[in-house]
Amino acid sequence: MTQVRDAIRGDDTRERPSYLIRPGRPGDSYELSFHWGELRAPSQMRVLDRYFDEIDRGIQGCQVALAQPGGELVGQVWTRYRNIDPGIADGRTECYVHTLFVMEKYRRQGIARALVEAASTAASRFGRSVMVIGVDRPNEYARKLYEKWDFHQFHATNDLRGDLIFLCRRLF
Ligand SMILES: CC(C)(COP(=O)(O)OP(=O)(O)OC[C@H]1O[C@@H](n2cnc3c(N)ncnc32)[C@H](O)[C@@H]1OP(=O)(O)O)[C@@H](O)C(=O)NCCC(=O)NCCS
Repeated sequence: MTQVRDAIRGDDTRERPSYLIRPGRPGDSYELSFHWGELRAPSQMRVLDRYFDEIDRGIQGCQVALAQPGGELVGQVWTRYRNIDPGIADGRTECYVHTLFVMEKYRRQGIARALVEAASTAASRFGRSVMVIGVDRPNEYARKLYEKWDFHQFHATNDLRGDLIFLCRRLF
């Protein structure tokens, strides 16, 4: 468990739950699969199970956010350390951050930022120094958010994977 945020900060008196960030574990995949909605949950759970297998092989890492109190899994982010398209990240000094998601009700409380910072800390343990993140070109909100976090665009693709923009920054 790496990070806890207080419910209320400064003069902001709105009631908000705190949250906690920890590494994801295989038992999380059922709950995390619902981040894609009920209909897609079964197929996403298979994907997540494969991702969790990859954690054991040092290919990926995962961070999850838990609402406090209650422990509901309200956010996730994944980091790929190896087996990455070399045009996107070299898999030696660079890692690829993907599948960043925070449940709607819990957004705008700094959870995504805390997840990415925790992913950065984990990446440093893997000897990586740069994070790359991909975003669908139409997802302007996410792109602007990443730019506020000092990611800058270095690459773009428009192929079978979609119309994507890739941004990078040194670890936090
Ligand atoms: C993009 C996404 C992950 C952001 O999650 P989030 O937890 O809301 O992100 P953060 O809270 O860290 O930052 C979001 C905003 O909240 C603000 N914020 C952070 N803490 C805050 C607080 N305590 N009070 C008020 N605002 C706060 C941030 O400054 C930021 O402001 P901005 O929108 O003006 O830039 C989320 O919107 C999401 O899951 N979207 C759908 C999936 C998606 O698009 N993922 C990205 C794929 S590339």
